[in-house]
This record gives sequence, C-alpha cells and structure tokens, in this order.
Amino acid sequence: MNHFIRKTRLPLKFGLIGKPVEHSLSPLMMNTVFNELKINAIYVAFEVDESQFQDAIKGLSALKFSGFNVTIPYKEKIIEFCDSIGKKASIVNAVNTVKIIDGECLKCYNTDVDGVVATFKRRGIDTKGMETLIIGAGGAAKSLIIAFDMLGIKKIFILNRTKTRALMLAKLLQSRIDAKIVILDGEIENIIEEVDIIANATPVGMYPNIHECPLPETFILKDHIVFDVVYNPIETKLLKLARKKGAVAVSGVDML
Ligand SMILES: NC(=O)c1ccc[n+]([C@@H]2O[C@H](COP(=O)([O-])OP(=O)(O)OC[C@H]3O[C@@H](n4cnc5c(N)ncnc54)[C@H](OP(=O)(O)O)[C@@H]3O)[C@@H](O)[C@H]2O)c1
Repeated sequence: MNHFIRKTRLPLKFGLIGKPVEHSLSPLMMNTVFNELKINAIYVAFEVDESQFQDAIKGLSALKFSGFNVTIPYKEKIIEFCDSIGKKASIVNAVNTVKIIDGECLKCYNTDVDGVVATFKRRGIDTKGMETLIIGAGGAAKSLIIAFDMLGIKKIFILNRTKTRALMLAKLLQSRIDAKIVILDGEIENIIEEVDIIANATPVGMYPNIHECPLPETFILKDHIVFDVVYNPIETKLLKLARKKGAVAVSGVDML
C-alpha cells in the first residue's frame, strides 16, 4: 500500500479578508486562473470581524499563506500591520494586496490604481485632457483620482453623499496631482455635458442591490464613457443604462 502514497506538494495558499466577502468574485476568478494555468494553488475568502482582525492576519502567516487581498472595510486598517508599503498604497492610504515573506513579513501594495490605468489603456481610450465626474469619496475614489491624474485627465468633479468627506479627499490629494479637483454640491446638471467620463466609486448597484443606480438615467449621455468600479454584477444597472444610451460602458471587473 505504501508505494501508492506519494509525497504531495502542498498548494500555495492565497486568501481574501474583509466583511462582507460573500459578494466577492475573487475566489472563483483566482481558482479558475490557477486551474487553467495548472498552478498548484488555492484562494479562499474569509469574513473577519474587526475584533479578530489582528488574529486573522497572524493566522494567515502561521498557516503559511503566500499572500492575501484586503477588501472593505479593512483597506486602511491593515496599514498598521504592514512591514513595508508601496508608493501608491502610501499615497491613497489604502492597501488591497499583501505578500507574506518568510511567514511573517507583510509587504503591502495597492493595485487598484494600476488596475484603473490598465483598464483605460487596454481599451485604447485616450483620456488626455478629459474631464471626469467621480461619484463617491472613499478608497476606490482615491485610487480613481490618482489613476485619472496619471492618465492625463485635467479636471475631476467629485460628488459624494457626504460632502465633508469629499472635501477631505480633495484636501488630501490636490497638492499631489496636476488635475484640478472640484467638489460638487449636487448640481450635476451644470457639468454633465462638460464631462467625458462618469465613474461610479460607490457600492451602489452591487449585489444584492442590483436594481440601484448611483445616477438618474437622464444624466447619462451617448458621448459619455461610463465606468463602474462595482464588478458584481459585471454589468451593473448603471452600465446597462449606459449601453442603452449608446455610451461606452466599462466594467470594474477589468481592474482585477
Ligand atoms: N473593481 C475593483 O477592482 C474594485 C476595487 C476597489 C473597490 N471596488 C468597489 O468599489 C466600491 C466602493 O469601495 P470603497 O473601498 O471605495 O468603499 P468606501 O471606502 O467604504 O467608500 C464608499 C463610498 O461610497 C459612498 N456610498 C456608500 N453607500 C452609498 C449609497 N447608498 N449612496 C450613495 N453613496 C454611497 C460613500 O459615501 P459616504 O462618504 O457618504 O459614506 C463613500 O463615498 C465597492 O463596491 C468595492 O467593491 C472595486
């Protein structure tokens, strides 16, 4: 019997921590890629309570995970546990990817900025000199602002449910970028024809609230490029409406 038992190589282990995580498509996507490319690795999502956040990170290291992704609400909280932090993560003050070196050292990065830049470049969209409206002022909005600035966008309007948060975001980032940030007070009708890109950086429209849309349909025009960071569903209500109007619809799934 013994000669049938071979020593098997343990798979590389990767994870996702956040709360909630059941909406995440990352395990499906990552495990499909591992399978297709015949990589001996697994990817598992873990829902972590805030009170056990530090224990969860220690656990991943102890279990010899090679790395993990971080999603809401822990993208900022993880920073205090990082041994080193990449430049973009440091600018946006948010981490979404962690490499575990030798089972203990956490090297932390933000790949959202590069994801947005790559999404527009892959599509061949020349964004130089464009103007954009970003809805939201959280972590995703921060990454969008840095990415849009890198893409040569000249003006960024921000509309957020809580205006003070948008003002704080502008204060944090304006001195670091060339694009001009303008905070809106709700008066979208004055700028909607001026903007080239509408970008949703809120969870509005995300599963299970798939019938919600961050903007009334009348504001979506056929000349707009509409980008939604939400990637579950891949085609959100906002993107469906954009396609219906003849606008260019770009899904957040392209950022991954
Ligand atoms: N495609 C990707 O790779 C990718 C990457 C990162 C994030 N995301 C997605 O982006 C979304 C936002 O993530 P985040 O990290 O930026 O979250 P966050 O830091 O919590 O910020 C959420 C933002 O959305 C606003 N918001 C939340 N619920 C709202 C509602 N019902 N109506 C209007 N505004 C609302 C918040 O406004 P207040 O300030 O008023 O609370 C805040 O500005 C999530 O769905 C996330 O999954 C996707």
